[in-house]
Amino acid sequence: MLSALFVLASSLLARNALAASTPCTATINSLSDVSAAEKCTTVNINGFTVPAGEGFTLSLADNTVVNLNGDILFGNKSWAGPLFTVSGDNIVFNGNGHRFDGGGPFYWDGQGSNGGVTKPRPMMKIKISGTFENVNVVNSPAQTFSVSNPGPLVISNINIDNSQGDQPNSKSGGDAAGHNTDGFDCSTTDLTIQKSTVKNQDDCLAINKGSNIVFTGNSCSGGHGISIGSITSDVTVSGIVISNNVITNNDQALRIKTDSDASGSTVTNITYSGNTGSGLRQFGVLIDQSYPDTLGTPGTGVVISDVSFSGSKNTFSVNSGAQQVAVNCGKGSCTGTWNWDELTVTGGTAGKITNAQISGFSE
Ligand SMILES: *[C@@H]1O[C@H](CO)[C@@H](O)[C@H](O)[C@H]1NC(C)=O
Ligand SMILES: *[C@@H]1O[C@H](CO)[C@@H](O)[C@H](O)[C@H]1NC(C)=O
Repeated sequence: MLSALFVLASSLLARNALAASTPCTATINSLSDVSAAEKCTTVNINGFTVPAGEGFTLSLADNTVVNLNGDILFGNKSWAGPLFTVSGDNIVFNGNGHRFDGGGPFYWDGQGSNGGVTKPRPMMKIKISGTFENVNVVNSPAQTFSVSNPGPLVISNINIDNSQGDQPNSKSGGDAAGHNTDGFDCSTTDLTIQKSTVKNQDDCLAINKGSNIVFTGNSCSGGHGISIGSITSDVTVSGIVISNNVITNNDQALRIKTDSDASGSTVTNITYSGNTGSGLRQFGVLIDQSYPDTLGTPGTGVVISDVSFSGSKNTFSVNSGAQQVAVNCGKGSCTGTWNWDELTVTGGTAGKITNAQISGFSE
């Protein structure tokens, strides 16, 4: 009996293993094709509209190649989302320049995820290792990408365009209609995001925790710049490289913000190299331990160390009325000597550095 069960079990396992690695090709034309397609290692997706109130969720077999061959639209309905989710190990996802359209204008009311109508978010939830590239994403209802890769992932050539949300609409009371439209929210490890563009109304990149993250050769416009934080309690951020990005018409180019009441967290080994920015509305660089206040009373429960501007020159110009560099650390919570040899900021006023030892840069 036991051995019969064993034979049955192992033949089932063998069949599953076979199914998972079968080199079949599947085509998705609608959500009803998804479950069969998840068994194949080549998945071609044609353009279609996902029914309102439903998500498009792909749980791929290991080593699958996905080719997007048309645009994906999502029906409009107030619900929690996410709109698109993809998971799997060692995946090659080719967007081929096609588009995901989140229908943002239907939801936008100037309140994002802080209020107003419930908005599906994030729009794109990426849970793969491997590569994800050549995808256009427009009109995200609120946050655009959330990335939580199970292994090394390289994201390349993604164009996020929520710029339509810069304009007010009838529901936004004169404010930009798009709000909290973060480009990439990444609390993860072993991730590279490169050669991508983000036009939005919030952070271009936000890292709340994680390590070994590289953000390089991207351009950000309209939003709140490249952010580490906000940092809450008991998290670690380490080994972050932000290089060769162009940041235009954002509130600030680069920011680290930690919650004033957070404790037990560390932010360490952050390197900025070769970034440039202009049209910065409030700050060039802002490092602030008083979040949610800006330049308020800083907390001391998050230790920030080894923040460097090194490698290639980082050059920013801020608008008149903006501050070039503001550092607002709690006493003793920004440690070590920070090498800022490769930072130049012009325009506006200088700003103030409090409780941090910085070499190679002074205001
Ligand atoms: C959802 O509404 C927005 C705004 O009116 C529109 O741009 C988009 O095309 C709509 N989506 C669909 C699938 O109809
Ligand atoms: C700092 O981070 C970089 C990039 O992840 C890494 O290569 C380097 O080893 C780290 N340095 C230390 C001292 O941990």
